[in-house]
Amino acid sequence: MTEPLRIALAGLGTVGAGVIRLIETNADLLTRRAGREIRITAVSARDRGKDRGVDLSPYAWEDDMTAMAARDDVDVVVELVGGSDGPALTLARRAVAQGKSFVTANKAMVAHHGLALAREAEAAGVAMKFEAAVAGGIPVIKGLREGAAANAIERVYGILNGTCNYILSTMEDTGADFADVLAEAQAMGYAEADPSFDIDGIDAGHKLSIMASIAFGTELDFANVGADGIRRILSADIAQADALGYVIRLLGMANVEPATDAADGDTVRLFQRVHPFLVPKDHPLAHVDGATNAVVAEGNFSGRLLFQGAGAGDGPTASAVVADIIDIARGEIGAPFSIPVSELNPTAPAQTGHRTGKAYLRFQVVDKPGVLAELAAAMRDAGVSIESLIQKGAGDGPVLVAMVTHEGEEACVDKAVELLSGSPSLVEAPLVMHILKQ
Ligand SMILES: NC(=O)c1ccc[n+]([C@@H]2O[C@H](COP(=O)([O-])OP(=O)(O)OC[C@H]3O[C@@H](n4cnc5c(N)ncnc54)[C@H](OP(=O)(O)O)[C@@H]3O)[C@@H](O)[C@H]2O)c1
Repeated sequence: MTEPLRIALAGLGTVGAGVIRLIETNADLLTRRAGREIRITAVSARDRGKDRGVDLSPYAWEDDMTAMAARDDVDVVVELVGGSDGPALTLARRAVAQGKSFVTANKAMVAHHGLALAREAEAAGVAMKFEAAVAGGIPVIKGLREGAAANAIERVYGILNGTCNYILSTMEDTGADFADVLAEAQAMGYAEADPSFDIDGIDAGHKLSIMASIAFGTELDFANVGADGIRRILSADIAQADALGYVIRLLGMANVEPATDAADGDTVRLFQRVHPFLVPKDHPLAHVDGATNAVVAEGNFSGRLLFQGAGAGDGPTASAVVADIIDIARGEIGAPFSIPVSELNPTAPAQTGHRTGKAYLRFQVVDKPGVLAELAAAMRDAGVSIESLIQKGAGDGPVLVAMVTHEGEEACVDKAVELLSGSPSLVEAPLVMHILKQ
């Protein structure tokens, strides 16, 4: 019988405790699938006395999680602590330096340091795996690396943050305002006390940058993800979108574009955006509600692939972590980003102005004659053609004007917004949301 694969587990919170439960519950099945026993040998967290609902007595305890990398009874280090830097990163580096494979669910760390870590792992001949870092329990990394490996991926996009999707779909169902639904989500534990990473699109940006690198064979480039969140969305926007045949979803969207000039050389222009989009009601993503995640990958031979499931939670995330461990037990090391780091294409951010599409613009304006004419003139001067327009008064308060444009260049919409900037007719800056192309 092959020797057991010995695991050290750093972090015993939601995901860490879930991994212990999964490995204990499915022990026999894992041994059969992996071809060898998967055995936890050492664990670490901050508080040794905390009740985690799992029995830790069979495992050695380390106060200093980074010390687990040097243990002789450990083959694979699993990091489930979080944070882009700090002890998680130290542990990752030490594990690789000690010739140990490394598994993580930490999207922040992979987004910021993934390329450097992957380079070190490749040089050391060890595995670095992070299935759980993108869309939790959904096997989207495996789907892109393996199932869709034969395709040029034309576009990858999806709902990558369960908190935002919960908030938006609850606003849709109840008509409640953003702040009330956020407070409720915090009370129920769906949103963090400091929700900014989620609602400002940063968490989705981490995941998008990782997914884009694997989908397009490009160097991971989190710094150039254009991220915008859902704070400014009003229940009135959701009602207007509904009337026009759309729902609003926070999407991460990426594609590559041909280099714009010869000076680019091998550099690939990578478009990466996390924004609230208007999604046509007949698109599959329009029916993804609550905390669920979903990813669409469009392959040049496979056509549209849809991956959907739980993007978080102890069970689903543990499922993805242990799938990586099984791969390592089977000897499947592979390059962390599917292609060796030295062969990933360098990237530069794509220009957005020439992108075409329809957009939703919403203005909060003062209630006085001539304001609509001012908006219409700005659209005309910027070359934006209006498909539909709705105006809604709200008693003594500002008037809401929502419009959908005909297909046109994003640069024109940007220009219209610029022309209106500083106008005393506007109560706040216009909100622009793009409409998802089918
Ligand atoms: N929760 C999810 O559904 C989910 C989904 C996908 C990915 N992830 C990722 O998985 C990772 C873990 O998330 P989680 O939700 O399980 O977090 P969590 O519940 O907050 O657990 C974090 C664990 O790390 C331990 N820890 C924190 N700082 C430490 C330190 N300096 N030394 C040793 N241990 C330390 C904590 O110890 P104590 O318990 O003693 O305080 C705790 O056990 C994060 O990277 C997260 O982004 C989570």
